[in-house]
Amino acid sequence: VAHDVGVPLSAATSGVELSAEFSVAYRYAVHMTRDAFDPANTTLAGAFGGPGDGPRVLVAVDGGMLAHHRDLPLRLQAYAAAHGIALIGAPVVLPGGEAAKQDPVHARSIADAIERRAIDRHAYVLAIGGGAVLDAAGYAAGIAHRGVRIVRMPTTVLAQNDAGIGVKNGINAYGKKNFLGTFAPPAAVVNDELFLLSLSDRDWRAGASEAVKVALLRDAEFFAWLERVAPALVARDLDAMGSLVARCASLHLAHIAGAGDPFELGSSRPLDFGHWSAHRLEALSETRLRHGEAVAIGIALDATYARLAGLLSDEAWRRVLAVFTALGLPLSAPELDDPRLLDGLEEFREHLGGRLSVTLIADVGTGVEVHEIDRDLMLRAVACLRETPDVAAAAR
Ligand SMILES: NC(=O)c1ccc[n+]([C@@H]2O[C@H](COP(=O)([O-])OP(=O)(O)OC[C@H]3O[C@@H](n4cnc5c(N)ncnc54)[C@H](O)[C@@H]3O)[C@@H](O)[C@H]2O)c1
Ligand SMILES: [Zn+2]
Repeated sequence: VAHDVGVPLSAATSGVELSAEFSVAYRYAVHMTRDAFDPANTTLAGAFGGPGDGPRVLVAVDGGMLAHHRDLPLRLQAYAAAHGIALIGAPVVLPGGEAAKQDPVHARSIADAIERRAIDRHAYVLAIGGGAVLDAAGYAAGIAHRGVRIVRMPTTVLAQNDAGIGVKNGINAYGKKNFLGTFAPPAAVVNDELFLLSLSDRDWRAGASEAVKVALLRDAEFFAWLERVAPALVARDLDAMGSLVARCASLHLAHIAGAGDPFELGSSRPLDFGHWSAHRLEALSETRLRHGEAVAIGIALDATYARLAGLLSDEAWRRVLAVFTALGLPLSAPELDDPRLLDGLEEFREHLGGRLSVTLIADVGTGVEVHEIDRDLMLRAVACLRETPDVAAAAR
């Protein structure tokens, strides 16, 4: 459509209204693979737009992960050589875990490398790590040159099933989680399940809470499967975890692409069940709690609230608590007693603006939005969870 240039040059222009309207389509693939750096595996090369394009790539890696994969830089070099990928300089190493997001210096170190090594908008950042490192790298890539393409290789369960596959990134600031960040879809995501083998038991388990979350909101069949395979998951069955990751990632992508609000312009974040308190708990614990652990507690809390509010049946409530216990995840933490916990509700509202929207569940597989939370009832839910041993026992 030709732009309307019908504004006479000589006439008064007050009251003239010009407008622009366009839409941009996004498409990216999330690949599930095994041993992505085996030169015979073409998945990663394909993520850069196929062999022969000679992509220029700046690598950013999670230092905590690297400690378990010392041969990664060499394997990546050999892989790049085999596939005509130009690695620009040595990998930028970020500290693993929330530290990567707590101090802006880490995102800055990636922006510095983008500038010094002349990474332009036709080159790529390849970020390899847990959700925290991917968030920091995604933020740096998202603001440098107003957006350099990024390929993500998530290396934790939580990053592969949630943090690494969506359109958000960010770092913490002003004592608030993800306060600085952008919406920036990746060029591609490569989930290599072999990374999961080196996770600590704690990180292996923590990632399952996001799966419980989407299952509770959207997919009762998936929830029943989680109940059934919980023992195998805790015993570190990689095939079971691979299935969990794939189903959870697919539910997430369906939400991003299909729910009509990928960049969260509305007032609700329907997938953020349990997250208003989880973000608060992470901050109050000074990151002692992992995101996935805080999410388990946050969901247990909101499920308990829903139970007390008469929204959720006793049976469904017990299933929620029992599945977390079976997955080796916590239901409670001392940080729940902090009077600043409930500030999380206002912080959650502010993050999106508009009126408060909290997602609860009315049944397993059925999320519902509420716009008011009764503070006294929420405190009763806290008290209920703080008697954890009883709750956990009651839930079995
Ligand atoms: N952008 C989003 O949409 C989104 C969604 C959910 C969560 N998040 C963010 O993700 C972060 C949590 O991510 P996470 O759960 O992946 O944890 P994490 O990134 O904090 O990593 C946990 C630990 O695991 C280590 N590690 C990473 N990969 C490893 C591997 N393969 N083997 C051994 N150790 C490894 C890390 O070094 C770190 O010490 C939080 O900051 C959260 O806010 C973002
Ligand atoms: Zn989350």
